[in-house]
Amino acid sequence: MTDARPQAISTPLTRAGRFLVLTVRPGGEGAVRGLLPELAGLRRAVGFRVPDRRLSCVTGIGSALWDRLFSGPRPAELHPFRELHGPRHTAPATPGDLLFHLRAERADVCFELAGQIMARLGDAVRVADDTVGFEYFDRRDLLGFADGTENPEEAEADAATLIGAEDADFAGGSYVIVQKYLHDLTAWQELGTDAQERVIGRTKLADIELPDELKPADSHVALTSLDPAPDGTEREILRANMPFGSYGDGEFGTYFIGYCRTPAVTEEMLRNMFLGHGTATHDRILDFSTAVTGGLFFVPSADLLDDPPPAAGRPEAAASTAVVPGGVPPAPGAPATDGEQAAAPPSSPADGSLGIGSLRRSPHP
Ligand code: HEM
Repeated sequence: MTDARPQAISTPLTRAGRFLVLTVRPGGEGAVRGLLPELAGLRRAVGFRVPDRRLSCVTGIGSALWDRLFSGPRPAELHPFRELHGPRHTAPATPGDLLFHLRAERADVCFELAGQIMARLGDAVRVADDTVGFEYFDRRDLLGFADGTENPEEAEADAATLIGAEDADFAGGSYVIVQKYLHDLTAWQELGTDAQERVIGRTKLADIELPDELKPADSHVALTSLDPAPDGTEREILRANMPFGSYGDGEFGTYFIGYCRTPAVTEEMLRNMFLGHGTATHDRILDFSTAVTGGLFFVPSADLLDDPPPAAGRPEAAASTAVVPGGVPPAPGAPATDGEQAAAPPSSPADGSLGIGSLRRSPHP
């Protein structure tokens, strides 16, 4: 393993959470670079007086933004979220340059830290998504099932999530994939408990995995539990999903967040879910849950966040006048605007260029 201090990835599940996804305007790169080494201090300032609230913050950086911020080597597997179009269901890629995964025992400190971050970034960013999650009874999602049971723990969680010698420049870092899912709770409740258990692959009340002979091939658990690698290494992710909901908007869902030392593991789970595997055409959970966002971020080690790589040369100079309060769009020919995860090329250049292939703006989710 590595000596680099990781961010607070492997944190026990908390009662409150906030998932803040931002896009960075052209010219906002300097503000972001300035914030990164301040984040640990900000978290301490908000959390120190109320240690029982266990405030933590994990910061993730999207592929296109990485190239706008830094020169030099880039994390080996950092790329935009890859959309999936299955026979029935789609996993969309949506805008996002920065992810702040805030967790605590109470929502107030998450709110306060999000506010401190936003105050520092000001006009440099736009909010793509701000989802407030909560613990629901005994760690259940809004489908009524305990969520997070099979997460790896302690040393196993670190082995699953933290980059090691395979990418030594970025050891202690991680990759995180997020997706916001909306549930059709009416259709779900009409199913009845037995059928729901066959969708998930576990019992509802006692949270016990169904035996293989009763677990359908298209159940969620069947499609997301991967066999170990040929060398025996487990292929696991660490999830910190949270329910969210609004009666006003009629939106109820699960915010999926999965950490792994390689995005390939989470991506294989996603392919199984959306494109199918074996006899399963898709994960049955998707017939009741629609993915409305998708993003992939690199999570630097805490040490790298404190002391980030050197600034990229060109974008800063090229875009230094482009932050316009009030959001006036840049002139034609100006650098791309926001974290267009889907539109960026699969492997952005590491030469300090923007590495974004499109000027198209997508509507926010
Ligand atoms: C609508 C969104 C989702 C909901 C409501 C959901 C819910 C659940 C539930 C209830 C379980 C069983 C208990 C547990 O072990 O946590 C589970 C297991 C799991 N889920 Fe999800 N999940 C969602 C999306 C995803 C996605 C997108 C992935 C991966 C890309 C994923 C990966 C896993 C894994 C790896 C397990 C453990 C499988 C095992 O080894 O038994 N989930 N999920």
